[in-house]
Amino acid sequence: MKNTGLQIDVSRRRFIKSSSLLVAGAAVAPYLAAHAAPDEPIKVGLIGCGGRGSGAIENVKSADSNVTVVAVADMFPERASELAKKLGLPTEMAFSGFDAYKKVVAIPDINYIILATPPGFRPIHLRAAVEAGKNVFMEKPVAVDGPGVRSVLESSEIAKQKGLSIIAGTQRRHQASYVETLKRLHDGAIGDVVALRAYWCQSLIWNHPWNSNISDMENQLRNWYHYIWLCGDHIVEQHLHNLDVCNWVMKDHPISAYGMGGRQGLTGRGQIYDHFAIEYEYKGGARMFSKCRQMDGCRDNVSEAVAGTKGTSNPNNSIKVNGGEDWRFKGKERNAYEQEHVDLIKSIREGLKVNEGRQVAESTLTAIMGREAAYTGQLVEWDTVLNSTKVWMPEKLEFGALPAPEIPVPGKYKLV
Ligand SMILES: NC(=O)c1ccc[n+]([C@@H]2O[C@H](COP(=O)([O-])OP(=O)(O)OC[C@H]3O[C@@H](n4cnc5c(N)ncnc54)[C@H](O)[C@@H]3O)[C@@H](O)[C@H]2O)c1
Repeated sequence: MKNTGLQIDVSRRRFIKSSSLLVAGAAVAPYLAAHAAPDEPIKVGLIGCGGRGSGAIENVKSADSNVTVVAVADMFPERASELAKKLGLPTEMAFSGFDAYKKVVAIPDINYIILATPPGFRPIHLRAAVEAGKNVFMEKPVAVDGPGVRSVLESSEIAKQKGLSIIAGTQRRHQASYVETLKRLHDGAIGDVVALRAYWCQSLIWNHPWNSNISDMENQLRNWYHYIWLCGDHIVEQHLHNLDVCNWVMKDHPISAYGMGGRQGLTGRGQIYDHFAIEYEYKGGARMFSKCRQMDGCRDNVSEAVAGTKGTSNPNNSIKVNGGEDWRFKGKERNAYEQEHVDLIKSIREGLKVNEGRQVAESTLTAIMGREAAYTGQLVEWDTVLNSTKVWMPEKLEFGALPAPEIPVPGKYKLV
């Protein structure tokens, strides 16, 4: 196995081109490798061999018996080679380094790419996969800043033009209990929605101690959750799931966010906050109240709730109608992590062209807008954060020195 490329061409990550130019430049040709007849194998390439990437391989294999994993890529050689060994792949089909993704997307007969690295890399990897004519399963979140979200929106348009499918790892959208409840909400079961609540409160997340025998860059990559350029902060990385459900209920994204957050219990290296409380406003005036926290010894709560003019709902599974009959989901459901691959494979085999790129990009930006409201201490509007030029990724992607990034201080930090 080769450790390919310690350095990456970072000009690609500036995402400066206008979407019209990019879309006009996309070849609108049939991508034969992207499609698969009912009896043909789905050929998978994985980028990011960590917990979720390995899990997604299991999920796609359970989703369809005719799946072959062709190649895997990871930043670190040992992770790629360990997974390749487990999957029985030849060593030359395990790639590592900053540009390992390029090797996987270049394999002609792969028709299904799974993107499961830290989200900071997602816009670059998605663009490469779509340009290579591949269908994509991409984990959430899909970016950590406005330029990244704009790039994902553009890539999704290119995918549409090329007839490729994209499904995102917002698995609640593929979970029968949510799907059934949301259908009823959209049919008006609780009238007009006036308020929503979204929580992701849990204990502390993993945090690896600094290793002075490896470079700053490697330390940050191995402890990616604690750096904004890689993770986006936990409101983006984790709470996005609940914010996505609220956007799904509203069939829209919020127009502004106002709130607060801080780093009260976290010490040592790293940059992220450990709590956020944000009020979002949707067009028409409905409000969404969001809280997320990573602290030990506090009450956990991961949930959403909706209040309408005629009743209330836990969008996971139930509806209470004022003065009427309550409803609760009682059906069977498949593991949602498998169902999302079932749905993507169906779209590839039947030519249905599912594309969740825009919805997950909008939920990612919803989370980024909340984060920026807390970091700045200001009311932040959708267009400001979408059109922001702030790029969190460092200029140079190479193993070496990387200054400790600053922790945003409300009232001083500025969104540009
Ligand atoms: N949908 C869900 O419920 C769910 C659950 C867990 C994680 N996730 C998402 O999956 C993604 C990965 O999370 P994880 O828990 O698997 O993290 P992880 O740390 O276990 O795995 C990430 C892997 O990506 C590799 N990597 C980093 N940069 C890379 C690059 N540029 N190219 C190739 N490989 C690279 C890392 O070395 C690591 O092996 C995140 O976006 C996370 O939010 C989603």
